[in-house]
Amino acid sequence: MLRYAVFATLLSAALACEAFPNNTATTYNWWQCYDSHIKYYKTTPEDSTGKLEYPIALTKPLLVVADIDNSGKDYSSLTLSIRLWEWGGFLGCQWNEINTFGLLSNLDACTHGVPCPIKTGRQTLTLTIDFSKFQAIIGLLKNDAPYQIEITLKDNNSSDKTCVMAQARALTH
Ligand SMILES: *[C@@H]1O[C@H](CO)[C@@H](O)[C@H](O)[C@H]1NC(C)=O
Ligand SMILES: *[C@@H]1O[C@H](CO)[C@@H](O)[C@H](O)[C@H]1NC(C)=O
Ligand SMILES: *[C@@H]1O[C@H](CO)[C@@H](O)[C@H](O)[C@H]1NC(C)=O
Repeated sequence: MLRYAVFATLLSAALACEAFPNNTATTYNWWQCYDSHIKYYKTTPEDSTGKLEYPIALTKPLLVVADIDNSGKDYSSLTLSIRLWEWGGFLGCQWNEINTFGLLSNLDACTHGVPCPIKTGRQTLTLTIDFSKFQAIIGLLKNDAPYQIEITLKDNNSSDKTCVMAQARALTH
């Protein structure tokens, strides 16, 4: 009886999970994680022709076009780290971090899609996030599902850090 009740609870939790939380079926969500010298006014996922891309495709380079204001310094030595979450799970409807085995952490930002230097002032910054090198991970992920992505840039020479979080419907193969 107890076993049945536990199973029924898990099942109803799974069934109650929205397929695309926070309007991700049709909407790209993003926000700045915390205050930093780089302030973000807007970020937009675009395809290589400059059109809004939605759902985003993780099978080819993704352009994230960001309207930013850099009140810090010219950053020419930066470390890029990316974290990924998938939606759902047996513990209820929540974002669960995907283990990327460190492959997406502590990358040299300037050779991984960040146009360096990031100069001071208001500007359009186009980040090229190329997950195609990481198809071993991406290819295992559920296709046409919601994902949460955190992009952090850290200055190698100071404690300056900046971070953007996004939630998007994504194609993985
Ligand atoms: C939903 O998206 C908005 C941005 O569009 C964000 O501020 C909010 O934190 C998100 N909510 C959840 C529960 O992730
Ligand atoms: C900054 O640090 C990252 C991670 O340690 C490293 O890969 C990169 O080469 C560094 N950049 C420079 C310009 O030294
Ligand atoms: C930052 O680090 C780079 C490479 O490690 C170095 O060439 C540059 O002089 C450093 N800049 C400052 C302000 O320390």
